[in-house]
Amino acid sequence: MTSNVATKGDLEKILIDESKLAARVKEMACQISGNYPSLESPLLVVGILRGALIFMADLVRAIEIPVAFDFMAVASYGNSAHSSGAVRILKDLDEDIKGRHVLIIEDIIDTGLTLSYLVETLKARNPASIKICTLLNKPARRKIDIIPDYIGFDIEDLFVVGYGLDFAGNYRHFPFIGVLKPSVYEKK
Ligand code: IMP
Ligand code: MG
Repeated sequence: MTSNVATKGDLEKILIDESKLAARVKEMACQISGNYPSLESPLLVVGILRGALIFMADLVRAIEIPVAFDFMAVASYGNSAHSSGAVRILKDLDEDIKGRHVLIIEDIIDTGLTLSYLVETLKARNPASIKICTLLNKPARRKIDIIPDYIGFDIEDLFVVGYGLDFAGNYRHFPFIGVLKPSVYEKK
């Protein structure tokens, strides 16, 4: 009998384990903290829901300058492992970002379509600065020229889950980044 419950058995391998994630997140937080020497208001850290949740939670706790949080949600992959290219804002920011220093937190940049749309949308609101911080980057699949300011790890063209990243809403709670078996998404 086959089960529909998402388990670690659906993974081909662990790509980035907990200790590697923790060490890299600390380094990124240190770099970010050093890049804003004299802020007039807290750095506005904008998490892209839902994938950035775990990464953002760990990152902000290691950042040593004043920060405030806000969140956006955009429509992305649904149940498919391939981007449709269509981007829709499901939840907008609560804060007015005019004159603020904004740091967008993403789980992964793949084609770049989601982020380039977001950055353009937010730039039009006249922030003091807008930077992009992504845990993972898949440069091989880029369709739009977008270069993140902070990258945790460049990875190959593999479908990964865990540490916030999902497939069909599952696997986000795994404390590591794992590679999903293609058989899992090909059968959907
Ligand atoms: P992009 O618009 O193609 O850059 O897509 C970015 C979004 O696609 C991310 O925020 C993720 O939600 C999703 N995504 C892309 N690649 C993966 C992956 O390997 N695992 C899980 N989600 C992914
Ligand atoms: Mg996402």
